[in-house]
Amino acid sequence: TESWILMATGRTPTNIAVIKYWGKRDEALILPVNDSISVTLDPDHLSATTTVAVSPTFDRDRMWLNGKEIPLSGDRFQSCLREIRKLADDVEDEKKGIRIQKDDWQKLHVHIASYNNFPTAAGLASSAAGLACFVFTLAKLMNVKEDCGKLSSIARQGSGSACRSMYGGFVKWTMGKDASGSDSIAVQLASESHWNDLVIIIAVVSSKQKETSSTTGMRDSVETSPLLQHRAQTVVPGRILQMEEAIRNRDFASFARLTCADSNQFHAAAYTFDAGPNSVLIAPNRKSAGLLLQRLLFCFPPPAHNELTSYVIGDKSILH
Ligand code: PMV
Repeated sequence: TESWILMATGRTPTNIAVIKYWGKRDEALILPVNDSISVTLDPDHLSATTTVAVSPTFDRDRMWLNGKEIPLSGDRFQSCLREIRKLADDVEDEKKGIRIQKDDWQKLHVHIASYNNFPTAAGLASSAAGLACFVFTLAKLMNVKEDCGKLSSIARQGSGSACRSMYGGFVKWTMGKDASGSDSIAVQLASESHWNDLVIIIAVVSSKQKETSSTTGMRDSVETSPLLQHRAQTVVPGRILQMEEAIRNRDFASFARLTCADSNQFHAAAYTFDAGPNSVLIAPNRKSAGLLLQRLLFCFPPPAHNELTSYVIGDKSILH
């Protein structure tokens, strides 16, 4: 057998949604119940770097994440790999004397190694960076000529939010209407240079893997939350238009108001404010209240002479 190896490396940043995607209308194809808008971050900070290699000596597709081999059996990676293979084209590397023809890609296996330079699966959209990078780098290796819009619809099938990482700057994922998902793609609203005064600070409070995956969370919300339907059908369409305008005009006040309002809708029963600046947090039971307090004290340790710390739960003061 021949023993050449051909590689491609790509780096893709994650993105943070300011109008969020939450809820799928089709779980297999990952079609959302609403449009969403995000900001793609700077690749130096939160990004995935992926190297894809192909060689006739590889006997199966394999993948390593942060140095550890992970099964490639999951539907999502498989869907992306299958879709990219379908679009693969001839590749010629004269120096190495390699000629791969379109149809050869069906038989050739790939090895994929990906690293995240930030905590994985801790709610920082690591899957967005990872899956977008996976699709982008495979497409480079396999000489796929389709545009970023088409690639975004493939990345979407790996992780919904990944489609938005196909572009830098401000990006909208249009939910689309088609049952096949062909129009459920990302489009760039404005490039990174459009509003380069804007700074996004990510405060990592915990880098532990989150307990509930977004897939499970979304499924539960779709099945049980009356708020979700209202959000998707009535609230988000208006917010999307206003957010597009805020971005176009670099209007920070509107951008901030919409971003906070959209985030707050996800925490719609956990806190309330009265007329002043002090927050009232509500936990569903004593156990979660304990955890909440621990986190609160970790983030805001009470100074020696603290006038404002009084945590009251039910009829008992826990701390003064
Ligand atoms: O694409 P997923 O399955 O990682 O879902 C991500 C959903 C949120 O990050 C919570 C919101 C969003 O629009 O990115």
